[in-house]
Amino acid sequence: MRAKDGAGKRIRGWLACGSAAVLLAAVLAGTRGHAAPVHSARELSSARIPAGFTAKPTPQRLARGRYLVAAVAGCFDCHSPHEYVNKQWIARKGLTGAGQIFPPHMVPFPPGSRVVAPNITPDRATGIGSWTDAEIARAIADGVDKGGRPLFSLMPYASYHALTTEDLKSIIVYLRTLPPVHRALPSTHIPFPVRVDLNPATALPPPARAPAQVRRGWYLARMGGCVDCHTPILANGTRPASMVLAGGLHFQGPFGDVFSLNITPSSSGIGFMTEGMFVRTMQTGRVNGNGPHLNPIMPFQNFRHLRPGDLRDLYLYLQTVPKVRHEIDNTDPPTYCPLDGERHGLGDLNSAPSKKGPR
Ligand code: HEC
Ligand code: HEC
Repeated sequence: MRAKDGAGKRIRGWLACGSAAVLLAAVLAGTRGHAAPVHSARELSSARIPAGFTAKPTPQRLARGRYLVAAVAGCFDCHSPHEYVNKQWIARKGLTGAGQIFPPHMVPFPPGSRVVAPNITPDRATGIGSWTDAEIARAIADGVDKGGRPLFSLMPYASYHALTTEDLKSIIVYLRTLPPVHRALPSTHIPFPVRVDLNPATALPPPARAPAQVRRGWYLARMGGCVDCHTPILANGTRPASMVLAGGLHFQGPFGDVFSLNITPSSSGIGFMTEGMFVRTMQTGRVNGNGPHLNPIMPFQNFRHLRPGDLRDLYLYLQTVPKVRHEIDNTDPPTYCPLDGERHGLGDLNSAPSKKGPR
């Protein structure tokens, strides 16, 4: 299924939107024989979710859950059917959370694969209405369904494993308020085991002894998948730890052909952005709020709902990550880049990894 030149690591655009691509990247990396071992749900599972786990509804939890789902995690990017119209992802009306089958011709999995983001509305027959709070919590944070089956890791449970218990409860409280949609979908079917590399790059620990704002920024970045999309995957299927957040992951689809950009504080990254510029960029999808529109594979339609304080925390966190010199731009003609092995704008300005240039 993969071209030997590494073309298979391109993220083909079958996705409802941005964050769907995130885990696909990890999955694709893992389909190579020498990828990291499969992380089973068992390895991840914690004692945090005992059988008696309950998510008691409160107005605070409802508001927090709605916010996390819409502005940060983008659950409905995957769990609702979408169409790409006029350079925008449009969710189909009345089907919020009702699940979708990812279009088979666009899923770069073995022929015969069917990848389904299930109906997570409270419909009792076809959704998760009959699940207990503990069962839903385990699906989200530990990656096992009601029956104990490990979920396919396109569901970003590895990231959601870092959710605080309070946030996990908040998400469940919110999901239970969705209008139930009766919509039966088939289940995910992958003809043979796909080795999944949940990749070390995404598992970066929270910054040690960092100020609270920076730790909150790390948490938001984890839930929002920044590292997953903004770290390249090399031809050998690995994510270089030296290029975390340095951009260079390739996305192709109805939205075009685009690379994620360098968002480390290097001058070749977002070193030029003040906090205000960063906030305006995230809120508008245009650099500084007045540049050309950035590609909608970047989930601005979610992040634009982030509160200014949260955007500020994200910015402060990004300021603390190691600067990586990696020139990359989607508006310049593509040239070969020795750092990520791709052909992208400004690629030829980069030198091979051994020669460390000025940052
Ligand atoms: C689904 C993949 C995806 C996710 C998730 C994602 N990004 Fe992006 N991001 C992109 C792509 C692709 C671009 C380039 C868009 C373009 O050039 O048109 C981009 C562009 C950007 C830019 C503009 C940079 C510049 O120099 O103009 C910023 C800032 C940014 N992303 C920050 C973030 C942050 C912060 C997060 C996490 C909260 C994040 N991104 C999550 C794919 C993603
Ligand atoms: C990148 C796409 C993606 C995102 C984002 C995503 N999911 Fe999922 N989710 C899936 C897929 C695919 C499955 C099914 C995997 C399988 O069947 O093995 C799944 C399964 C689930 C299940 C189990 C349902 C069942 O019937 O088995 C729940 C609950 C769930 N997701 C909730 C969430 C919540 C809540 C969020 C946001 C916090 C979220 N998901 C974000 C793709 C996604």
